[in-house]
Amino acid sequence: MPARRKFLLLLIFGIPLLVIFGQCNIFDSPKVDPRGSAYAGSERCMNCHKAVYSDYLHASHFSTSRIADEHSINGSFMPGGNVYTLNKDTKIVMEKRDSGLYQVAYANGKIINAQRFDIAIGGIKAETYLYWAGNSLYQLPVSYFNALNSWTNSPGYHNAIADFSRPVGADCMSCHASYMKTIQQDQPLQQGEEFDRTALILGIDCERCHGPAAQHADYQTEHPEDKKAAYIAVYSTLPRMVKMDMCAICHSGASDMMLRPSFTFKPGDRVSDYKLPSLFQNTDPAQLDVHGNQYQLLKSSQCFIKSNMDCATCHNVHTNQRGQIALCSQKCTSCHAQVSHSFIKNDPALATAIKGNCIDCHMPERSSNAIALNTAQKSTVVPYLVRTHHIGVYTDITSEVISKLVGRGK
Ligand code: HEC
Ligand code: HEC
Ligand code: HEC
Ligand code: HEC
Ligand code: HEC
Ligand code: HEC
Ligand code: HEC
Repeated sequence: MPARRKFLLLLIFGIPLLVIFGQCNIFDSPKVDPRGSAYAGSERCMNCHKAVYSDYLHASHFSTSRIADEHSINGSFMPGGNVYTLNKDTKIVMEKRDSGLYQVAYANGKIINAQRFDIAIGGIKAETYLYWAGNSLYQLPVSYFNALNSWTNSPGYHNAIADFSRPVGADCMSCHASYMKTIQQDQPLQQGEEFDRTALILGIDCERCHGPAAQHADYQTEHPEDKKAAYIAVYSTLPRMVKMDMCAICHSGASDMMLRPSFTFKPGDRVSDYKLPSLFQNTDPAQLDVHGNQYQLLKSSQCFIKSNMDCATCHNVHTNQRGQIALCSQKCTSCHAQVSHSFIKNDPALATAIKGNCIDCHMPERSSNAIALNTAQKSTVVPYLVRTHHIGVYTDITSEVISKLVGRGK
């Protein structure tokens, strides 16, 4: 975790989630959730679910969208590290000003546009930023790519033009936030739409996954003797594909396949009511990008087809499990206690080493075709690597991983 992100977490630790999830709402009555009275707001969950709540502050879902400021942005605003050069005449400079942090476009030394970092999205691999213009949101032209510690052009943006014109709609935020209210409610999904800026809940909060829980919180408050959960979906009792849909609503890619924003999605709802089936039901790994399509890729795996696993078999979404390869591998060996790998032959050191890492060989990182990033040096296009969820045998990387594990080739 980058230091700045740690600092961010430190800062917010202990401050009620209200401040983070409901920035625009702090000064209104804290009881009213912009989604309506069926929602309690995450700060109420904290009283009774302390452990889950404090773990969750470290999960990337929690901070996937947030107010952009010095602590929530990975990139540098210091001279020497704050310029993205577009062409010989044009550059974008990340500047700290009295009214905030800005991306300032210069052509031949003259300012041609300047917009503020208002909302930050991501931060694990890449970070992108949005600014408000009136009641609409737009993406800033420069993003940040952690693997390179470098500013880059925003994915899909022309890498030589200072373009500030890409609107960000509710579709984008419906996977990266908890709520956003479109002013023209009945309009179909569209770009450049206008939002009610006082009714925005950034980050993915408890009720975004668990559904409206005010009645649950009220009931449990009034009946402290009742240790059983009431008025809330109990995950273990849900049918398997309903469990899968709780993740698939955001982890099956392609926002242009959305029929409507998914903010109201709750456990028990089906993704087919929100998304066109064409891509969502495609399970041909050859046609699926590793970015965003975990649901379909997992569904295409023999592990999934021949067992009863779901996403929570391997993931505890309340905690930050990133990089815990040995822990993940224990999930594999819980079903695959005995595997005789042909390449092990008589190599006990290798046999021991692979026990702690089933992942690099069977769920390798693959380059996304959907995202291309350019560095400030521009001639290089760097791959955006995501772990495939098509669990399988990838013989092309066997020897590379063996040498990583035991320091020698196959
Ligand atoms: C007054 C205490 C109280 C409050 C407030 C509260 N809960 Fe609970 N919750 C409980 C109790 C008691 C249970 C049952 C025991 C358990 O599973 O922890 C429970 C269980 C749950 C479960 C587990 C269901 C299952 O799978 O077994 C979820 C999910 C849940 N609560 C979510 C929430 C959310 C989200 C909020 C905030 C909006 C919230 N709770 C607020 C007391 C509370
Ligand atoms: C509301 C949309 C949404 C839902 C619902 C959702 N996710 Fe995510 N998930 C995201 C987004 C967006 C990210 C990327 C977060 C980031 O890095 O900014 C993400 C990231 C992740 C990660 C990577 C975490 C990391 O730190 O690298 C895992 C694992 C994950 N999700 C699993 C799940 C599982 C399992 C479920 C279902 C229980 C689920 N998600 C439900 C949107 C969602
Ligand atoms: C259908 C859901 C969905 C939509 C719509 C969506 N994303 Fe994502 N996004 C994800 C998921 C899931 C991840 C992380 C897992 C992955 O890469 O597969 C992610 C990852 C990211 C990351 C990298 C996060 C990190 O921590 O490294 C950024 C930045 C991002 N998205 C920005 C956007 C922007 C901007 C939009 C709108 C133009 C958008 N996304 C639309 C689901 C979505
Ligand atoms: C990304 C989706 C997601 C988010 C966000 C989320 N949960 Fe959960 N939660 C789950 C899933 C999935 C399970 C079931 C895990 C299992 O049974 O393996 C679960 C289980 C629970 C349980 C019962 C089991 C346990 O671990 O105690 C409680 C209580 C709970 N969640 C509360 C919360 C609270 C409070 C928040 C906010 C701080 C929250 N959840 C945020 C997906 C989510
Ligand atoms: C819930 C149980 C379960 C878990 C967890 C699980 N698998 Fe599997 N896996 C299976 C089953 C069942 C099969 C099918 C076996 C068969 O066809 O004989 C399978 C098949 C496989 C195959 C063969 C794939 C193919 O296409 O032939 C590989 C490789 C594999 N698993 C690796 C893994 C790895 C690595 C993990 C951890 C990331 C894992 N599995 C987690 C149950 C599981
Ligand atoms: C068999 C175990 C297993 C299952 C089931 C599983 N995952 Fe994963 N997932 C992993 C492992 C292992 C990683 C890599 C963790 C790491 O590198 O830190 C991972 C990583 C991820 C990431 C981050 C990818 C990246 O490269 O940034 C996302 C997002 C994710 N999983 C979502 C899901 C969703 C959604 C589901 C259900 C559709 C799911 N996972 C089911 C094992 C699993
Ligand atoms: C260095 C790469 C590598 C590592 C590490 C690795 N595997 Fe494999 N695995 C393979 C290859 C290659 C095959 C294909 C069969 C063979 O070569 O024996 C395979 C085959 C399998 C199969 C299918 C066996 C069959 O008979 O169909 C399963 C299940 C499996 N591995 C599970 C695991 C588990 C669980 C772990 C972690 C304990 C693991 N693998 C670690 C490369 C690896």
